[in-house]
Amino acid sequence: MGIDVTMATIRNRAVLVSEFGPPSVMKIVTEELPPPDANEVQVRHTAIGFNFIDIYQRKGIYPLPLPTRLGFEAAGFVERIGAGVQNLRIGDRVVYMNAGVGAYSDRRNVAEHKLVRVPDAIDDETAVSLFFKGMTAQYLIRHTHAVQPDELLLVHSAAGGVGQILTRWATALGARVVGATGTAKKRQAALDAGCIAVVDTSEDGWADAFLEATGGEKAHVVYDAVGKDTVMHSLDCVRPFGLLVVYGASSGKAPAIEFETLNAKGCLFLTRPSVFPHNADPARFRANAADLFDAVEKGHVSVEIGQRFALDDIVEAHRAAEERRVSGAIVVIP
Ligand SMILES: NC(=O)c1ccc[n+]([C@@H]2O[C@H](COP(=O)([O-])OP(=O)(O)OC[C@H]3O[C@@H](n4cnc5c(N)ncnc54)[C@H](OP(=O)(O)O)[C@@H]3O)[C@@H](O)[C@H]2O)c1
Repeated sequence: MGIDVTMATIRNRAVLVSEFGPPSVMKIVTEELPPPDANEVQVRHTAIGFNFIDIYQRKGIYPLPLPTRLGFEAAGFVERIGAGVQNLRIGDRVVYMNAGVGAYSDRRNVAEHKLVRVPDAIDDETAVSLFFKGMTAQYLIRHTHAVQPDELLLVHSAAGGVGQILTRWATALGARVVGATGTAKKRQAALDAGCIAVVDTSEDGWADAFLEATGGEKAHVVYDAVGKDTVMHSLDCVRPFGLLVVYGASSGKAPAIEFETLNAKGCLFLTRPSVFPHNADPARFRANAADLFDAVEKGHVSVEIGQRFALDDIVEAHRAAEERRVSGAIVVIP
């Protein structure tokens, strides 16, 4: 009698974190992966996305119950399929970014409604260099604020993963983007992404340098995911009635801001958004993904792959990111 492969468990590598801490807390374990549930497919990963949030979760800054898996984003092909799956077939190329942690692995069972097909024109490495980050840029420029032609934006970490995409897409929409980077070395990558000028936030007085670069004009919107080191100065770069978007904490959590400070700086608006609520509804998720892929196909969105790491070298990948050694996206290959 043959083995029923649809019901068999499969040996699978995955990254497990049993305590919060430095990159070395990530251990690769081999485990049994059960077959997919009725509404799930089993995805054989071919490329895994690295995102800065993975660092926050590894460190416990955004704490998860331990032990935990890690990673939000991967692309690959459907290898096994649950009995109730409606729209996907074995062999379909798919990508995901909001199915919870666990993407740092060879394979994974994922609910059908959390997956989108990867367009033929986009390869798997490109897909994971820009899906999570592009879906972030998508809500930031469409929903948090609908970017208009000629608006002036200040984008922090403009040479980074989200920053490059945000800059390219906003520029394609006709906005003027001034970039900020934490080292002068990343300046060229920010210019290549479309910035009209770049300021170096490691220099004291960088907010003044921003105003010098713009001839004194303040930004309609400042997109700041650096957090602790930059937010208070970012407030000085927003024009009256403008918006400060604090969407991350690469340098640490942003300090509390007094409501009266917003008044004193010119009736500013302040928000702290996240990509997950923007994509919690499956129909909205698919629409946002279609908007992103459309922008990619029009050439409005792209990201440089800064470096590739094998899954076995995941510790080194996190070190490179934390030490700010990489411009562009990090891609992990299982
Ligand atoms: N809220 C959301 O929905 C959402 C979704 C996705 C990502 N994010 C956030 O967006 C930011 C960018 O994410 P990403 O994955 O594209 O990463 P990334 O921009 O490629 O890397 C993070 C960047 O942060 C800057 N940075 C500033 N201080 C740092 C420090 N002390 N240590 C390390 N880096 C520091 C570095 O750029 P410079 O050297 O140029 O300063 C670094 O390149 C992260 O803060 C992430 O958490 C938020």
